[in-house]
Amino acid sequence: VSLGDLRHVRALARSLDGFARLHLLRTGVELGLFEALRTPRGEEELADRLGLARDLVSAWLNAARTLGLVRRSERGFSTGDLARWLLDADQAEALHALLAQAIETYGPRLRELPVLMKGGERPRFGSPEEAMRTAAVSRAVEPRALAALARIPGVREARRVLDVGCGHGTYLAGLLARYRDAHGVGIELDAAVADEARRRLREAEVFRRGEIRVGDVMTLDLSSGTFDLALLNNNVYYFAPDQRGPLLRRVRSVLVPRGVVAIQTPVLEMGLVSRALGVASGTALFDLVLRAHGNLHGLPDPASLHAALRGAGFAETGEVPIVPGGTQRYVWGRVGGS
Ligand SMILES: C[S@@+](CC[C@H](N)C(=O)[O-])C[C@H]1O[C@@H](n2cnc3c(N)ncnc32)[C@H](O)[C@@H]1O
Repeated sequence: VSLGDLRHVRALARSLDGFARLHLLRTGVELGLFEALRTPRGEEELADRLGLARDLVSAWLNAARTLGLVRRSERGFSTGDLARWLLDADQAEALHALLAQAIETYGPRLRELPVLMKGGERPRFGSPEEAMRTAAVSRAVEPRALAALARIPGVREARRVLDVGCGHGTYLAGLLARYRDAHGVGIELDAAVADEARRRLREAEVFRRGEIRVGDVMTLDLSSGTFDLALLNNNVYYFAPDQRGPLLRRVRSVLVPRGVVAIQTPVLEMGLVSRALGVASGTALFDLVLRAHGNLHGLPDPASLHAALRGAGFAETGEVPIVPGGTQRYVWGRVGGS
């Protein structure tokens, strides 16, 4: 066996490790195995405590140990550093949702890739479970996104806010809670998702200043020139590249002079910081998974968004990063006038 072969065998084994690690982490989080292993325990004690199959728990422990996810000492097995961080991180719930999303949403699309690439029919995205998982994941960046939004010129003074494709209403609720004299309208295509958004506004005690309307932003009846700020959070990829101009013109028509549109989106950014953080490959994978759905399109590149904003009549455009490296960012446009 040549040295080259060994190198490739090792690289292939690592690829399989990545796949295994994802599933073992998700299982450990979901079944409370990592939680129970905050205290060192033997394998049978662990299985019995959680009411799980002893042989599978034993094999899971063995596999998780070889991947460094659990440790073994004379007192038994215990949770490793990464798994402990996943339990204790500020955004733990969103990180758990990310594991579930990778397996439940990305998994099937990636498995079907050979069929889809040969022209197979691409499934639609948007089942209640998919929407729920996406909303849970997007909570990971929500505090950062709201902070980034406040850095866009004109946003802090905005009093009438339109949230296009508001989903579960996290952003509209967050914004109305932050700016107590602001009023908001959320537009959502999916009636069941819109109900969730109403629930979120009630939960955040801002429902008196917020209204959720069901419909398509392109056709819903909206008075022109009424909003100071329009949000397009994580949905520009629901619009094909040639629909983005009409969408932005439509949004511009409902904004007041000096009104702002803020488009939150991941971008295909291969810069040094994103590569160092290892997130560039995640964004590229996200772009691939989006395209594998019949009703979704790829991630935009920022330059084309600026051009589309200018083309739609926005006088000024800019960007604000949401995460280090800017793989998630706001691209904004401001209407001219005084
Ligand atoms: C990925 S979710 C993002 C939800 C929310 N903005 C967030 O960032 O958490 C995108 C949402 O946009 C909605 N949407 C897509 N196209 C729309 C349209 N033409 N009009 C209104 N809503 C739309 C979808 O139904 C979906 O709930």
